[in-house]
Amino acid sequence: MSHLVAPSILAADFGRLNEEFDMLNSSRADWVHVDIMDGVFVPNISFGQMLVQQMKSQSKLPLDIHLMIVEPEKYVDAFIEAGADVLTFHLEATNHAHRLISYIQAKGVKAGVAINPQTPVDQLDNILEGLDLVCLMSVNPGFGGQKFIYRTLHKVNKLKTKIIERNLDTLIEIDGGVGLQNAESLINAGADVLVAGSSVFKSDNPVQSIERLHSISKKNFDL
Ligand code: DX5
Ligand code: ZN
Repeated sequence: MSHLVAPSILAADFGRLNEEFDMLNSSRADWVHVDIMDGVFVPNISFGQMLVQQMKSQSKLPLDIHLMIVEPEKYVDAFIEAGADVLTFHLEATNHAHRLISYIQAKGVKAGVAINPQTPVDQLDNILEGLDLVCLMSVNPGFGGQKFIYRTLHKVNKLKTKIIERNLDTLIEIDGGVGLQNAESLINAGADVLVAGSSVFKSDNPVQSIERLHSISKKNFDL
């Protein structure tokens, strides 16, 4: 499977949300990444399910919802109803990740678990089977436009090895500071989904930036 590109709407111009969605709908984006921040799990507040519902009505692309909130179990229903196609919560935000993954999937939505830069991928060992997606944070969650943390590349490698060894089809998503400068290394390390906020929406030509992220091809070192 070739990789997916998921522009992060957090970096869009919220005064022109209709136009931003027209642009995304006409681009080669695969998903739209939607960041939900509660001001408790992360030191910033973004928006809630009502705006997500509005986005759902404008988007031709699946919504990839990233919950950066405490007690995610309280809100998964609201975001599923608002239109989540992929719903990701943080491992650090709940003691019941396994239960929550099954709950989300039982509602017909793909379930993802995100981990902060400080959290080792080994902590996913007991939930990896059956998980649709792992989101490796490559910045500290809370803000767009931050610098990519380079150590994430080792985490991608390590997680990809586990996924291959266990013969799973879990997707690896990378979120934070992703752009043309690091996309190729990430894809070669095993990334399946690239989230890109600033590098798309703050560029002169967002459609072209998405296209460029898309057209990077994986080098097969085995050949
Ligand atoms: C960070 C968010 C990211 C962010 C990415 O807390 O989870 O999805 O929007 O934005 P860039 O690509 O600008 O780092
Ligand atoms: Zn995100």
